[in-house]
Amino acid sequence: MKASIEKALNEQINAELYSAYLYKSMEMYLHSADLPGMANWMKVQTQEELAHAEGLIQFVNLRGGRVKLTAIEMPKNDWKTAAEVFSDAYDHEAKVVTVKINKLVDLAIKEKDHAFNQFLQWYVAEQVEEEDNTSTLARKLKKIGDHTPGLMQLDSQLAARIFTAPVIPGTTVGGP
Ligand SMILES: [Fe+2]
Ligand SMILES: [Fe+2]
Repeated sequence: MKASIEKALNEQINAELYSAYLYKSMEMYLHSADLPGMANWMKVQTQEELAHAEGLIQFVNLRGGRVKLTAIEMPKNDWKTAAEVFSDAYDHEAKVVTVKINKLVDLAIKEKDHAFNQFLQWYVAEQVEEEDNTSTLARKLKKIGDHTPGLMQLDSQLAARIFTAPVIPGTTVGGP
C-alpha cells in the first residue's frame, strides 16, 4: 500500500482508539453520576470503537502495511450533565469522526485505490448510524432537562444495550 494511505490509516486507528478512550471516560462520568444505564450504553460504544480500530488494523495488515501505535490523547473527564455528555458524543461523531472518514475516502479516490475506497464504505455507512444514535439521545436528554423521572426512565432503557460485534466486510471483525 502507498505510504500516504498507510499513514492515513495509522492516524485513523489512533482516532478510533481515542474515540474508545473518550467513551470510556464518558462511561466513568455517568457511573459517578448514578446513571448506570447510560454508563452501560457508553461501555458498549467503547467496544464498538475498539472493533472499528481492529477492522482498520486488519485491513492494513492484509494490504502489507505496517501498523504503528502512537500516543492516545487524554480525553475530557468531566461534564455537568448527561445531556452535555451525549451532546459532546454527537459533536465528536459528526464534527470529528465523519470528517476524518470522508477525508480517507477523498484520499482513496485521489490515489485511485478502489479496494481502499470499497473497504471505507462500511465506515461511511456506520457514521450515519453513529450520528443518528448520538443525536437522538442528545435531543431526548435536552427535552428531559432536570426532570428526574424522565432521566431515570431513559437510564433504564439504555441499560438494555448489549454489544454485538459489527460485521466489517473484508475483516474477521464480527465474523466467525
Ligand atoms: Fe468509530
Ligand atoms: Fe463512533
